[in-house]
Amino acid sequence: MTDLNDIVSAASTAFAQANTPADLENAKALFLGKSGRMTELMKGMVALSVEEKKSRGAAINVAKQSIEAALTHRRQALADAELQLQLQAEALDVTLPGRQRGAGGLHPVSLTLERIEAIFGSMGFDVAQGPEIETDWFNFTALNTPEDHPARSMHDTFYVEGGTDKAPLLLRTHTSPMQIRYAVQHVKKYRAAAGDASEGLFAGDMPEIRVIAPGRTYRVDSDATHSPMFHQCEGLWVGENVSFKDLKFVFTDFCRTFFESDDLVLRFRPSFFPFTEPSAEIDIQFASGPLAGRWLEVAGSGQVHPNVIRNMGLDPEKYIGFAFGMGPDRLTMLRYGVNDLRLFFDGDIRFLSQFQ
Ligand code: PHE
Repeated sequence: MTDLNDIVSAASTAFAQANTPADLENAKALFLGKSGRMTELMKGMVALSVEEKKSRGAAINVAKQSIEAALTHRRQALADAELQLQLQAEALDVTLPGRQRGAGGLHPVSLTLERIEAIFGSMGFDVAQGPEIETDWFNFTALNTPEDHPARSMHDTFYVEGGTDKAPLLLRTHTSPMQIRYAVQHVKKYRAAAGDASEGLFAGDMPEIRVIAPGRTYRVDSDATHSPMFHQCEGLWVGENVSFKDLKFVFTDFCRTFFESDDLVLRFRPSFFPFTEPSAEIDIQFASGPLAGRWLEVAGSGQVHPNVIRNMGLDPEKYIGFAFGMGPDRLTMLRYGVNDLRLFFDGDIRFLSQFQ
């Protein structure tokens, strides 16, 4: 019977060496398959006597059962190993931090706009919003801008469909049209309150106009410091006795509060705008910090032109005022030390989340 014992141990060894189910099935075929060693042994019994067949057959069966048991055992072991591998591969690390819902926050330019509104609000300025698609009248004509002014060219201004030749529509190139829109409403309201039904220029009494108008503006312009869409904030103060001195005081106070810097200084540099006369660019200079000593332009300004006062419906003999237009994007860059305007509008969360 040693031949049977040898076969059983050879089968056990072969099964143990099979490391995949496929290898195991191949090994099984060697012993239990149609031409496997056990099958051969059975065939070899033909020549034996009936008695010998009985005992040999029983012994072969015992051996066969051992081989089958070894096979089952190995099959189970391989299946277990595979399951373990799979469990490991799909393991959930419950100690990993969960995915959190990101907390949103205001855009840095929105933070600046809020800050501008709060500061001017504390000085008694109203906050007004107006349309981004404007008429040529409010954006240019009412603001004393001549027909042939370069700003009106297609090269500088985005015109949009829907207007007429006489009344083209465009994306507002500045927030200055809000000077007219707001003042016209203001005058209408107080003219009615004063019982004045006339159509001429208003020379009656009314509360001063004091308003800022922040919002988006558009120009055909794009580089590190210019974006085709950018922000402006208009300011307008009109009354019977408003002077350049008031503009200087208000804007200086605003800049010092905005930048939290009492030793910040301003320079009013003569300039030109069709809707103000005289006009000035406003530059600021920090006393300390990385930008100390440099003049930085932050706004255009000036005394409202008499023609513009008229287009507001007011008598320029009685009413006078000043206006300014500043760039909140620029103010944001200066406040946070950002050197590329495009970062504000790329929408990269790594940049934006630094302001939360
Ligand atoms: N609208 C001007 C600009 O966009 C700025 C400005 C506003 C100048 C009000 C004077 C008065 O450049």
